[in-house]
Amino acid sequence: MELIRGAAALRAFADELRAGGASVGLVTTMGALHEGHRSLLRRARAEHARLIATIFVNPLQFTEAGDLTRYPRDERRDVAIMEREGVDACWAPPVEEVYPPGTTLTEPDPGDVGDLFEGVARPGHFAGVLKVVHRLFDVVGPATAYFGEKDAQQLFLVRQMVNQLDLLIEVIGCATVRDTDGVALSSRNAVLSLDEREQAGCLFLALGEAATLARSGAHDARELVAVMAREVGATPLARLDYAAVVDEATFRPVDTLDRPARALVAARFPSARLIDNISLPIPV
Ligand code: PAJ
Repeated sequence: MELIRGAAALRAFADELRAGGASVGLVTTMGALHEGHRSLLRRARAEHARLIATIFVNPLQFTEAGDLTRYPRDERRDVAIMEREGVDACWAPPVEEVYPPGTTLTEPDPGDVGDLFEGVARPGHFAGVLKVVHRLFDVVGPATAYFGEKDAQQLFLVRQMVNQLDLLIEVIGCATVRDTDGVALSSRNAVLSLDEREQAGCLFLALGEAATLARSGAHDARELVAVMAREVGATPLARLDYAAVVDEATFRPVDTLDRPARALVAARFPSARLIDNISLPIPV
């Protein structure tokens, strides 16, 4: 595996792969790799002749300085994992290779959906995400890019950007990888105390209760939201940030479960803010 720092060097490497006729898959990460990231790498590896993956903790998408400085970093470990997963080139650039001083990069507009949910808790977050994802797409030029459903709003907005800018990149959403107790794997789980980690299960429990209601024929999205809020509210160390049911096609809240929908939940624990979501069965 090549470990590359410069944007020009990465672009040259990717050009060479394409010139040799290989289709290139891309997995973008901020490092601190876990099984969720590995599932993306494996899927991309299986579907593409060549695989490029990135490690870049994007300062533009952090809205609290402390969150950025506390973000776990262990490049050596991450590079070794990527190597084991068959990555051809790992791009781990310094900030100035992603955002070269004096250049004006494309700033895709997240639109209204960027101001909902995660956008309320973290204003400007999705503008930062789309700016870096667009830059990574531009430098790498992948045929396909893989994103986790764990960050469903991010996945929705990346797809929206690709459509709006007519980028010739296929975006694939990959199922959320969970721990045995249902907690979605996240780099932030590492900072939770033992008690917090135990109680983090309330997010998946809440989503499960919403899905059960939908399966049993509930049509009113407010009922699902109420049950999720109750579950998180009954968890001593968790403070509900939001619980919602959104239309898969628009990512806007729905009143009635009459189309493909997704339940979302976010909660603050003393050490970290956690998010999760699941796709809901359509009630009969
Ligand atoms: P990061 O949080 O490192 O996640 C990288 C990719 O892994 C994202 O597509 C995310 O949705 C996916 N992922 C995270 N946890 C997962 C899990 N438990 N199961 C499946 N997939 C999971 O998301 C980002 O980085 C950044 O915003 C990025 C897209 C790299 C732009 O900076």
